[in-house]
Amino acid sequence: MILGIGIDIIHLPRIKDLLTRKPTSLLQFSKRILSDRELKEFNERDELDNNVKFLAVRWTLKEAAYKALFPYHRKPQLIIHEQKQEINISNVHSSVSHDGEYVISQVLIEGTTNKKF
Ligand SMILES: CC(C)(COP(=O)(O)OP(=O)(O)OC[C@H]1O[C@@H](n2cnc3c(N)ncnc32)[C@H](O)[C@@H]1OP(=O)(O)O)[C@@H](O)C(=O)NCCC(=O)NCCS
Repeated sequence: MILGIGIDIIHLPRIKDLLTRKPTSLLQFSKRILSDRELKEFNERDELDNNVKFLAVRWTLKEAAYKALFPYHRKPQLIIHEQKQEINISNVHSSVSHDGEYVISQVLIEGTTNKKF
């Protein structure tokens, strides 16, 4: 059974600005979002752009997982009104994310079909 779906987008320059605003920003942010194991790996790295990407990847994965696991408030709802005869839809999952000028959406459809792809 599919429990949920989640997606998250981050514009890397925005995160880089955020992380370099104060000398302590990178450390605070990394401690907030990384597990102990991830933090150990992170502290062995030194190049800023790679660090920003390392944090952004883990941040988006955790946000996406949160949306998939706890879709209790503000979960987007997609209703498919017209269905093709050969497809029987049992459930539709959707997730959206926006950052600045960008929006990303993901849809996952559960169901059955007798159509051969
Ligand atoms: C609610 C939260 C997921 C929104 O994420 P965000 O990065 O600020 O914003 P995004 O643009 O990616 O996503 C916003 C969209 O997600 C959807 N959304 C919001 N809450 C949601 C939820 N609980 N479940 C599924 N989808 C959700 C909505 O469609 C929303 O769009 P809208 O603002 O147009 O209604 C985020 O603010 C949050 O509270 N995260 C939980 C904290 C956490 O534990 N994160 C783990 C990181 S270590």
